[in-house]
Amino acid sequence: MPQRKVGIIGCGTIGSQLATAIDTGAVRNAGLVSLFDAVPANIEALKKKLGSKPGVFTDFEKFVKTDCDIIVEAASQDAVRKFAKQVLAAGKDLMVMSVGALADKALLAELLKEAGKSGCRLYVPTGAIAGIDAIRAVRHLLDSVTLTTTKNPKALAGAPFFETGKVKLDQIRSKTMVYEGTAAEAVRMFPANVNVAAVLSLAGIGVDRTKVRIVADPAFSTNQHEIEAKGSFGEFKFTVNNVPSPGNPKTSYLAVLSATECLRSICDDGMRVGS
Ligand SMILES: NC(=O)c1ccc[n+]([C@@H]2O[C@H](COP(=O)([O-])OP(=O)(O)OC[C@H]3O[C@@H](n4cnc5c(N)ncnc54)[C@H](O)[C@@H]3O)[C@@H](O)[C@H]2O)c1
Repeated sequence: MPQRKVGIIGCGTIGSQLATAIDTGAVRNAGLVSLFDAVPANIEALKKKLGSKPGVFTDFEKFVKTDCDIIVEAASQDAVRKFAKQVLAAGKDLMVMSVGALADKALLAELLKEAGKSGCRLYVPTGAIAGIDAIRAVRHLLDSVTLTTTKNPKALAGAPFFETGKVKLDQIRSKTMVYEGTAAEAVRMFPANVNVAAVLSLAGIGVDRTKVRIVADPAFSTNQHEIEAKGSFGEFKFTVNNVPSPGNPKTSYLAVLSATECLRSICDDGMRVGS
């Protein structure tokens, strides 16, 4: 298999780890071709850590023309809305981390159509949760899927949900359920916190039927996701307790590892178990 040439949108926590993994050979059969970020300082900080010399861009039009086969989005939902279609139209595969953006059915349909036209693939890593293989296996037998996410209030800070002022994060002293609703709404209200809700919905019963609860607990130092699924197959419950990544308390370290593993399986000629 020829070496896969990789471009990265977003030089923050996930993008930097991925770039480093390619640079050090931890992702085999991959070369880092180009980096794009709206913030030049973030690109510069990453560039200094790399042995290779990828092209660096703050202009997306120039970035998307670089000679890469796959582009990883590790930026924001806004970046998916702005750039994903152009990536696919340029004939490049796309791996999306800000999966919440794909809860927008019109956008998802548009991207799948573009991928179909250009013969490109859209990859969605499992991210900060586990059990997606099981959800996919029983998707036609599911009656209900509920995600309960518990985080320290600090990891929820800045979410649009709190702009109404009805719930004051800094006044929460004990475990408090701050939100309950559909995955479709949750990814809009907490765009940097529950991408996993979108992953779960895509694998299972969709964004309107997947329920999400968000709990703030000052005693928590991990990002916890509990998935409960019931249906004619039986039922299961998965809990992951993720340490936050050092660079960004909103992003679980597992999400970074999952992104790396997904890219490794794409570039390294399929998935390997146990190597
Ligand atoms: N799928 C999952 O399970 C999962 C888990 C954690 C994080 N995420 C998502 O992955 C994305 C990246 O996470 P992170 O922790 O690396 O974030 P981060 O804040 O550490 O880094 C994001 C980088 O992208 C850049 N950026 C953001 N929007 C941009 C735009 N429109 N154009 C150009 N550059 C832009 C920022 O300047 C920053 O350098 C976020 O959207 C986050 O919510 C997904």
